[in-house]
Amino acid sequence: MKHLLSLESLSALDLRAILARVPEFKLHRRLHARPLTGQTWALVFSKSSTRTRVSFEVGLRELGAEVLFLSAADIQLGRGEPIQDTARVMGSMLHGAVIRTFAQSDVEEFARYSRIPTINALTDQEHPCQILTDIYTFEELTGRRIEGSVVTFVGDGACNVPASWIFAAAKLGFELRIAAPRDYWPAPELLRRAGAGEAADWHLHPTSVTERMALGNGTLELVVDCTLAARRADLLYTDVWVSMGKEAEASDRLRALQGYQINDTLVAAAKPGALVMHCLPAYRGHEIDAATLERHASTIFTQAENRLHVQKAIIAWMLG
Ligand code: CP
Ligand code: NVA
Repeated sequence: MKHLLSLESLSALDLRAILARVPEFKLHRRLHARPLTGQTWALVFSKSSTRTRVSFEVGLRELGAEVLFLSAADIQLGRGEPIQDTARVMGSMLHGAVIRTFAQSDVEEFARYSRIPTINALTDQEHPCQILTDIYTFEELTGRRIEGSVVTFVGDGACNVPASWIFAAAKLGFELRIAAPRDYWPAPELLRRAGAGEAADWHLHPTSVTERMALGNGTLELVVDCTLAARRADLLYTDVWVSMGKEAEASDRLRALQGYQINDTLVAAAKPGALVMHCLPAYRGHEIDAATLERHASTIFTQAENRLHVQKAIIAWMLG
């Protein structure tokens, strides 16, 4: 049985196998087979969602399944029933589950105890479905593979979205740059798991403003200076400064991340014609300015729409 729990645990081969199935779903939106007919899947969400929720609900239905949306707050899970019991109950009735929660270990525990195909729809550690969509969208819009390209992530470099980008860079082989204040650089332990070896220990060089390291088949650069990080980038990418669950740190984050914004200056530093993407939701004036978002709306909302087609490809890969 296949799960999609993280990009860390997905091989490059499987990542490519998922992406290869997207066009059949995008080109034949309502004409494709309905392999989930007779099945019931659940979305179990402990955090808010627009794109992930709608794309999975619509995608599962278009593949033939019935869908339950379960807000964790409305089921006994929200009152403290253990994951392992919730998972065993759900596993005895459902055919698959899509989980959005806090700890990565909770999704992994759910998969282990439920024994049904389980998808990570975002945890504090990773957002694998998002980055699969981002790579698909980059390749669709540029007409070339991401391998060898330069991707610059700007903002909170220590959250789930850049973490999934890190594993993608290591597996596929491209240059990832993370532009963030040092306090928001990814943890050395995560970098070691992605293959950075001893170079992961950037904290041992307390005054460095740039660190470059080999990362599996790719390269990672941690950079304090946004403009430097944007130079000759093929893709500028950002995410919210205050991730879900970090609301108590909002004022510190807004202060620390001020300036880590995709705007005209940054776009001018990137390659001519570079793509600008945002996983959304966007906070105009924080991680991206309003004019840049609108100028790149066609890319950003294609990226959002592609969530639907990629979710179907993920499910088709899991069934295969
Ligand atoms: N990008 C993303 O996952 O959006 P939602 O939080 O709306 O699902
Ligand atoms: N890093 C963000 C992603 C939102 C899709 C969060 O976790 O809130």
